[in-house]
Amino acid sequence: MNFQLTEEHLAVQAAAREFAQTELLPGVIERDEHQKFPAEQIKKMGELGFLGMMVDPKYNGGGMDTISYVLAMEEISKVDASASVVMSVNNSLVCWGLEKYGNEEQKQKYLTRLATGEIIGAFCLSEPEAGSDATSQRTTAEDKGDYYLLNGTKNWITNGSTASVYLVIAQTDVAKGHRGINALIVERGMEGFQIGPKENKLGIRGSDTHSLMFTDVKVPKENRIGEDGFGFKFAMSTLAGGRIGIAAQALGIASGAYELAVKYSKERKAFGVEIAKHQAIQFKLADMATNIEAARLLCLQAAHDKDMHQDYGKSGAMAKLFASKVAMDTTIEAVQVHGGYGFVKEYHVERLMRDAKITQIYEGTSEIQKIVISRELLK
Ligand code: CAA
Repeated sequence: MNFQLTEEHLAVQAAAREFAQTELLPGVIERDEHQKFPAEQIKKMGELGFLGMMVDPKYNGGGMDTISYVLAMEEISKVDASASVVMSVNNSLVCWGLEKYGNEEQKQKYLTRLATGEIIGAFCLSEPEAGSDATSQRTTAEDKGDYYLLNGTKNWITNGSTASVYLVIAQTDVAKGHRGINALIVERGMEGFQIGPKENKLGIRGSDTHSLMFTDVKVPKENRIGEDGFGFKFAMSTLAGGRIGIAAQALGIASGAYELAVKYSKERKAFGVEIAKHQAIQFKLADMATNIEAARLLCLQAAHDKDMHQDYGKSGAMAKLFASKVAMDTTIEAVQVHGGYGFVKEYHVERLMRDAKITQIYEGTSEIQKIVISRELLK
């Protein structure tokens, strides 16, 4: 067992930290307040290779391992979780799904541009009545010979109005249940494809979340990913890796809040000394640091499993379940350490607390992670 990061890992981590501190930190409070998508920053992330980190270089990706991805996600999420969700969806749902299951033509047409951030992607599974119960897809993709006729609504879609490529999960044959579901590549601008209003969210307010409406959209058959009926397995398999990205996002939110709490506690004085000298604060910091370290180990374990081509469904779910709870607990305590200053926007921790909540909800709620974990345990 070797807990040492390689030179390459440390370099990726340092580059992500530098980018987050210099490019994402300025303006992050205003972007949150005004729900402004970090368009310029995302463009730069693409140029630096953060949007297609694990994609094979032959498709313009960074060819990096999942550990590098986790390290970069943590650093970016410490500062701006709205930017890191774009990074997570593009890397681990859209690029990974296309690279793993798309055909060569699809990879050349879409992946080569998604990997550089020239365009970004969205993953469209959730519906008004199908969130956790993902097999209950109401969106239909009727087989019309050489195309599918797509009808329905998708909800809470990250990158909803900024993506160019949408991986849409839809039911083709209801009688076959989840084995009658397909995954289709839908391009922005296809006739009948409408983008709904932007959601006004509690957290990750800089991210671009919309509902999407499809009315008789003709999607060519060559845009189906995998065999007929593979769509649900495509979604589940892709989400299994996506959960490692969200776990790393949660880890970053927690460690960002912790670092701010440490800094503040060394500066702020109460009862004649820095508050870091009070045991009440020391114990909070000790709990935060211990939980964060445990969350980090779970994230790295899941990433290592994926890199070693071992099963990572359970370890990814455990990482997400635990890290998202740590994100919530740590950010609440970080606000507490800051006292009244923690309750106002300038000190960043209240935003991190609001951002933490979504990590317990998207890419499978904490309750869904427990289902995934317990099914593996009881196999
Ligand atoms: N890889 C491949 N196939 C898988 C799989 C995996 N990891 N997990 C399940 N499957 C397959 C099963 O083998 C099964 O196929 P067979 O019957 O042919 O064997 C099929 O999928 C159905 O599986 P289940 O019977 O287990 O299905 P279920 O109805 O009991 O549901 C569930 C399972 C785990 C609850 C699933 O519905 C689930 O994960 N729900 C949560 C959905 C979710 O994570 N949504 C997030 C939205 S995306 C998002 O948030 C992105 C964003 O923008 C940030």
